[in-house]
Amino acid sequence: MNALRKKISFHDFQPQVESFRQAVFDGLSRKRKQISPKFFYDESGSKLFEAILEQPEYYIPSIERELLQKHANEFAELIQPGAILIEPGSGSCEKVQLLLDSVIPAAYVPMDISGDFLQQSAYDLGEKFPWLPIYATCLDFTHKMVLPKGVPQGRRVVFIPGSSLGNFDPLDVQYFLAGIHRLIDKNGGLLVGIDRKKEHATLNAAYNDSAGITAQFNLNLLSRINNELDGNFNHAKFEHYAYYNDKLGRIEMHLVSLEDQEITIFGQAFSFTKDERIHTENSYKYSPDEFINLANAAGFKHRQIWSDDNDFFSIYFLEAY
Ligand code: AVJ
Repeated sequence: MNALRKKISFHDFQPQVESFRQAVFDGLSRKRKQISPKFFYDESGSKLFEAILEQPEYYIPSIERELLQKHANEFAELIQPGAILIEPGSGSCEKVQLLLDSVIPAAYVPMDISGDFLQQSAYDLGEKFPWLPIYATCLDFTHKMVLPKGVPQGRRVVFIPGSSLGNFDPLDVQYFLAGIHRLIDKNGGLLVGIDRKKEHATLNAAYNDSAGITAQFNLNLLSRINNELDGNFNHAKFEHYAYYNDKLGRIEMHLVSLEDQEITIFGQAFSFTKDERIHTENSYKYSPDEFINLANAAGFKHRQIWSDDNDFFSIYFLEAY
């Protein structure tokens, strides 16, 4: 044990984990079948997602990493010394590590719905940054965001990398940003990474990588239903389909039935016609104007934007007013 180790505490707000079974039954009973992307992430799904992050066509991670490294000192200045850094959906706490040495926050509050993973990631982070007080907080940040007791006073700054807001509809992004505003109050800040609109071919390739990893990731949802809900999907009879919907400004991912078929889940039958789809994910893309408008509507003004040379991806620093 490192004697200088600051404390790592764990706070469990016992998030209600939505029943996979209920979500699948409801989603497949609809006229337009759909299942939320949050159900992608079982153990193999999480591994496949890690592999997506390594695909050359999926440009987001490398660009964002470069921007975070290159501008860490500018972020630090805007975040200000002694801030409380809060990360909803912190996962492996990987990206924040690019900021910590420059920002030196008074505390870091990673928030995640998966308690075991959160605890492990917090301990691993603590090993690398022994000076950092960590308040690991298990909650569903889409339902409520609160800080646990004991977090020191100070300017609160929220960090949301990876364009993870892209999964929400624009109006839900606005509500979510308004929720962040309530948490950080006036004088708080928000550092957020958002994918941009661009050439359709580039977007389409990012979700149709040539190694077929994104296809496996999408189809893994069927395996998860087979394994956990006694389903009998046959992978060979479904196909990954991802395309950029220009009108709605989003990548859509679907699983397409290749023939008329009936499948059963826990004994209940669901029928598919040929070409019928299950809609599994949306990934919205924003021009800076569009995203700044959403942020303004939620009570933020933008201080600065950083982008790569191709304008593929942007990081925004927003200030609550
Ligand atoms: C985690 C939502 C940012 O939309 O780019 C990547 C998820 N899905 N490839 C994205 C994803 C397929 C990713 N987000």
